[in-house]
Amino acid sequence: SAAEKGGHEYFMLKEIEEQPDALANTLRGHFQSGRIVLDEQRMSDQDLREVDKVFVVACGSAYHSGLVAKYAIEHWCRLPVEVELASEFRYRDPVLDRDTLVVAVSQSGETADTLEAVRHAREQKARVLAVCNTNGAQIPRESDAVLYTHAGPEIGVASTKAFLAQIAANYLVGLALAQARGTKYPDEVAREFAELESMSAAVQKVLSTVDQVRELGQRMADSKAVLFLGRHVGYPVALEGALKLKELAYMHAEGFAAGELKHGPIALIEEGLPVVVVMPSPKGRAVLHAKLVSNISEIQARGARTIVIAEEGDETVRPFADELVEVPAVPTLLQPLVSTVPLQVLAAEIARTRGYDVDKPRNLAKSVTVE
Ligand code: G6P
Repeated sequence: SAAEKGGHEYFMLKEIEEQPDALANTLRGHFQSGRIVLDEQRMSDQDLREVDKVFVVACGSAYHSGLVAKYAIEHWCRLPVEVELASEFRYRDPVLDRDTLVVAVSQSGETADTLEAVRHAREQKARVLAVCNTNGAQIPRESDAVLYTHAGPEIGVASTKAFLAQIAANYLVGLALAQARGTKYPDEVAREFAELESMSAAVQKVLSTVDQVRELGQRMADSKAVLFLGRHVGYPVALEGALKLKELAYMHAEGFAAGELKHGPIALIEEGLPVVVVMPSPKGRAVLHAKLVSNISEIQARGARTIVIAEEGDETVRPFADELVEVPAVPTLLQPLVSTVPLQVLAAEIARTRGYDVDKPRNLAKSVTVE
């Protein structure tokens, strides 16, 4: 009913709006007197100190949350992190032992491939931490420990609020590892720690500005294909933006690492092709920012229609943006929490304009319990 959907036409639109709460609820209780406390975790600081390698295994959007985590955890903790599609993980003979921490990320906690990856990891004696949105699901039951995301039930098949909550939970894991093991960058980690707690307000701010994105989505509904480019944490955001568009609008969409542009994707650029670019902060990542500005000017010169997601006040990018979508300035590693939101709205609006049911995209299931 309309009431269940909070006055929205689709659950997904309601779930997009619930993201500030999903984040706040996921983070709640984990910040105590300046420390991260992962109480459900059943892993001691000693366990975390023994870890010498981290794998994140997941499928779909949850996999993209793992890619974001790689940037954060490697930087904060100087620990190698590999992110694996759960369906590839156990067939690849990964190198695991008891000092390996495997983080299995799953909204439903029932995804068959992720569950099998957990079983494989435990057979190899790795320690498995589930990041899960569903109480008592199979993946947390079979893991050594669990960190629940508290996004609330997600009805829309394409993940939105659970994805943001997964990113937040992965950051908590990274910060807990940094706290137990020490960090090379105490000032930066302290700032990210402090700002993570206030990210819910930043996401709320993004939501108040998305009317522009809806209108843009309506104008883009006839596009044949859309490319997404990003670098650093903007790269997984680009992948997620493309996945959302495929899932919901049945449109050909690909995400690329912008540095790969000259190794293939630039050949796809033609007159009028929409290209969404996720910009890094001009202050936080000046070098990457400059490289992306140069990428945008190259694709614009070849006729692409550039849709640029950039930090508010980023004037240098404006001349190259046919459409500029501004998001609040936040620490670089936390940026996916704000920059993903306009891409969700864009995909939902394009799908709606094309007349599709955004809650139940064709051929897709909310949780894939068969391999
Ligand atoms: C399906 C859903 C996606 C989700 C993926 C992984 O493909 O449509 O939105 O990201 O499964 O699901 P999980 O429950 O393991 O996070």
